[in-house]
Amino acid sequence: MSPIGVFDSGYGGLTVLREIRSLMPHYDYLYLGDNARAPYGPRSFERVYEFTLQAVCRLFDMGSPLVILACNTASAKALRTIQQHDLPSLDPSRRVLGVIRPTVEAVGDLTLTRHIGIVATQGTTSSRTYELEMAKLHPDIAVTSQACPMWVPLVENYEFDGSGADYFVQRDIQTLLERDPLIDVIILGCTHFPLLYNKIRAYTPTHVKLISQGEYVSRSLEDYLRRHADIEARLSRGGHARFLTTDDAAKFASAATVFLGSSVLAEQTSL
Ligand code: DGL
Repeated sequence: MSPIGVFDSGYGGLTVLREIRSLMPHYDYLYLGDNARAPYGPRSFERVYEFTLQAVCRLFDMGSPLVILACNTASAKALRTIQQHDLPSLDPSRRVLGVIRPTVEAVGDLTLTRHIGIVATQGTTSSRTYELEMAKLHPDIAVTSQACPMWVPLVENYEFDGSGADYFVQRDIQTLLERDPLIDVIILGCTHFPLLYNKIRAYTPTHVKLISQGEYVSRSLEDYLRRHADIEARLSRGGHARFLTTDDAAKFASAATVFLGSSVLAEQTSL
């Protein structure tokens, strides 16, 4: 197998995998969740880079010619260094892509007020990666980023539907909209956050659009593969997905089954 590798700190990347698979079901996929070390959001640049590089190496070792970092924190803190520093010595014929650039590309057509909000982990907001990418692609758009450090732990602990989530979601959305009342689009800039969609929607005025990344990342990947026939030709086409986690396999499998809507077998691995 030469699967498309999909990496996240935990369950969040499943929201991206679900969209990629539904658009391109014919490829094989290898998902790796570093649940044992999630969340990555509060971790330093050095740690997120170290862990992400380990994950990329594992996915390469298992045959992936192309790895998607389905994690904003890893995309913000590790992608550039891996692309520029590590890939040339690891294997320059392979590719590692992130989720921030395709999201920023898409948002230009979605905002009328040209004021957007980003909800993300502390790691993503402090890196300012969204602001930097937005300034390059859409310099007329004002960006306000809100760190939501409690949201990933709520998802990783299966509390995304519980009443505990209401307090933190309401507080953080309210703070964001007070900081910039002209916001008409909020990017869910963490792949865990679509799992909190119903809560976020409930506390966000209806005229504000909520953007989940899976749809945009999957379309961007399809376009990438159309433009990079050399990579596309190396991908195997069995329609299978395999799931690896650094924590308990049974726990991962039951969560993934809920998040993906179909039953999943998971295997434990260490990095
Ligand atoms: N799902 C991740 C992201 O998109 C990671 C969150 C975390 O581990 O803190 O940022």
